[in-house]
Amino acid sequence: MARYTMPTGGAFAEIPATPFYYYDLDLLRRTLESVTTEAGRYGYCVHYALKANVEPRILCEIQRAGLGADCVSGYEVACAVENGFPSEKIVFAGVGKSDREIERAIEAGIFAFNCESLEELEVIDALAAKLGRRVDIALRINPNVRPDTHEYISTGQAESKFGISYTEIDQALAKLHMLSHIRIVGLHFHIGSQIRNLASFAELAGRVNEIAAWFAAKGVEIEHLNMGGGLGIDYEDPDGEPIPDFAGYFRMFHENLRVEPGQTVHFELGRSIVAQCGELITRVLYTKTTAGGAKFAIVDAGMTELIRPALYGAHHRIENLTASDAAGLRPMEVYSIAGPICESSDVFARDIAFPETRRGDLLAIRSTGAYGSIMASNYNMRPLAPSYFGDR
Ligand code: LLP
Repeated sequence: MARYTMPTGGAFAEIPATPFYYYDLDLLRRTLESVTTEAGRYGYCVHYALKANVEPRILCEIQRAGLGADCVSGYEVACAVENGFPSEKIVFAGVGKSDREIERAIEAGIFAFNCESLEELEVIDALAAKLGRRVDIALRINPNVRPDTHEYISTGQAESKFGISYTEIDQALAKLHMLSHIRIVGLHFHIGSQIRNLASFAELAGRVNEIAAWFAAKGVEIEHLNMGGGLGIDYEDPDGEPIPDFAGYFRMFHENLRVEPGQTVHFELGRSIVAQCGELITRVLYTKTTAGGAKFAIVDAGMTELIRPALYGAHHRIENLTASDAAGLRPMEVYSIAGPICESSDVFARDIAFPETRRGDLLAIRSTGAYGSIMASNYNMRPLAPSYFGDR
């Protein structure tokens, strides 16, 4: 085989040692163009959720496209600043911000803290006072909307740990009146991730309208509404939908969210921006058949490189690149594709129709640009997989 072509389009003359991540920067740029165009129609501001992927080359493309940053730790705030995101476009959420993280973010002069509890309001106020600053905050309100997604990535339900309960907003407001070093400028919401049914966002917009009206009736001026992230991608058919439906997503908010004159609307998108441009490339180490007749292909990537299938039962499309090069010559069979880690959950796919697979075959695990490399671990003392970038 002279050239190895990745499913998203890049090519290698010689394949590097596996496993590794491959990112298609051309697809990332086209995705960024789509998200900025569609958000731009309504004057919406988009912040990239760094938690999805912090590869510097990816961050560079994203900040060049003009997006802000959404961070959930002091480390992410520092990373966003180092990678060129202007401080006034950085938002900082997180249910457990430490004092040190808060102080650093105050010093960096970020756009807003998304505050997640009544106690956090007091802590930020005290730390701002200590530093002689006045800090802008948004209240992250848990709106009790249940999106259609995995329970581990749902965040806006009454029983979830995130945000200030919508039943506590009067207490939050009373507290804000007493605290002189913080100023409420926004309302923040995030109901969950990998949400494909846009009706969940319409439901969110309806709840936000009610909550914003409550604040307006109390005479509180809300300068910005932050709708969080959560737009899902097509894991089944990444080539059918390489760029998510940003047009439909923003239109849903435009049609359902009431925006007062002078108010800005913000979003925090992670997965929908970077998931489809990444793939995890791995090699088959062994094949074997169980006593029950099930066939396994054991590959050199595992849950250490991509934990999503083990953690959420997530589905990623897997392709045998070697078999597809030898077009039509390999019969279809049924395989489970598993990693080398000493955990029974270290299985990427169970009983899928897959071409006959041999030791040495190269596989691509698709749609792994978001929550892939960033969630990697060193379990079993494995080193982190390197990243390569295709730039057509
Ligand atoms: N804003 C906040 C406050 C969030 O908690 C998240 C994601 C986002 C924005 C970005 O959401 P996105 O647009 O990426 O859906 N590790 C899981 C996903 C966890 C998402 C956590 N929060 C996974 O692999 O599916």
